[in-house]
Amino acid sequence: MTERAQPIETAADLRADMLRLREEFPALHQRVRGRPLVYLDNAATTHKPRVVLEAMTRFYAEDNSNIHRGVHALSVRATEAYEQARSTVARFLSAPSASEIVFLRGTTEAINLIAHGLAHCRLRPGDEVLITHMEHHSNIVPWQMACKQSGATLKVVPITDNGELEHGAVERMLTDRTRVVSVVHVSNSLGTVNPVREICALAHKVGAVAVVDGAQAVAHMAVDVQEIGCDAYAFSGHKLMGPTGVGALWARQELLAELPPYQGGGDMIEVVTFEKTTYAKAPAKFEAGTPNISGAVGLGAAVSFIEQVGLDRIHAYDTWLLERATEQMQAIPGLRLIGTAPGKAAILAFTLDTAHPHDIGTILDMEGVAIRTGHHCTQPVMVRMGVPATARASLSLYNTQEEIDTLCRAVNKVKEVFQ
Ligand code: ALA
Repeated sequence: MTERAQPIETAADLRADMLRLREEFPALHQRVRGRPLVYLDNAATTHKPRVVLEAMTRFYAEDNSNIHRGVHALSVRATEAYEQARSTVARFLSAPSASEIVFLRGTTEAINLIAHGLAHCRLRPGDEVLITHMEHHSNIVPWQMACKQSGATLKVVPITDNGELEHGAVERMLTDRTRVVSVVHVSNSLGTVNPVREICALAHKVGAVAVVDGAQAVAHMAVDVQEIGCDAYAFSGHKLMGPTGVGALWARQELLAELPPYQGGGDMIEVVTFEKTTYAKAPAKFEAGTPNISGAVGLGAAVSFIEQVGLDRIHAYDTWLLERATEQMQAIPGLRLIGTAPGKAAILAFTLDTAHPHDIGTILDMEGVAIRTGHHCTQPVMVRMGVPATARASLSLYNTQEEIDTLCRAVNKVKEVFQ
């Protein structure tokens, strides 16, 4: 039997389909300050499609129970739903095994877990931890704490004026004392997409553990942890159309086995006596206490939603929208885009010559346009770029060309006010 060829999707079909998908997000269909909401703060958090809201409501309405503890039917169902979500996340990241997925509060907790563990079991005085100048505070502060605890030194890869890692700097800064390289996949304040595959390969050449902060990447591009070749990858559910308060860490089995538990409590043990406790194997070892069960269920539904839409299609749409937005914004006199690396993700940080970012955000809000302003938890990036703060529009699959037009009109209004 011959396979029937799939019809080729045109760019117009793709745009029409994304417009249809927009209908699945109830929160987008509201008026703010008397105007239709234009939500462009997706790097901070995304809205949730109906399937995610329904999965969580269904869980509480039908299956609600604690997991791994009860023999009764509801507990069995809740356990199955939670573990199914783990398998879904493993598939999403192309992880070799679901037992390498740890559910946590999000990226921040995942990096804290790894940094805390490595400070304990690997880092020694004189060792080095290499991060980059474009890291979110959540990929800086935990390593500063780990260095303080262990006597290791934190080293920082510099970035260029357009927001890329300085060419050759990672290789140059690696030494035989580098024990960890921790790098952001997609910068939340610049949009830069880092060459994580190459960085992980370089880290491994000197025997360092390679950690990737995937918080901004997972909603915009297909992530295959085996292809990247990292040792650990962290992301948050809420930036991926899932609920807040849940995220996942993938790490190699051997690394998870080596790391000490992050917290003690129920469900992470094998045997407890007053003299000694032995720990369960990962992932349970890192999931002390009752976890965010409904959150994991919601995250599983969000991942399935994203998979169904297809990350290749999301990426194609993002790129189309980003190109249009960049073109239109660059045409506004006095607007400076911060972060212009080639191949960047759909994050547009900018300043205006006449208005402070907070004033931009306030006036845009009056027009119904939601963006984020401030340092975006990347204060070193602001210092490097010579700005106190930026205004940032960050796009998602449900944004439209018309919303970009509204954004630009609103920015022009700011210019008029501050002329
Ligand atoms: N890290 C999130 C952001 O970039 C909160 O807005």
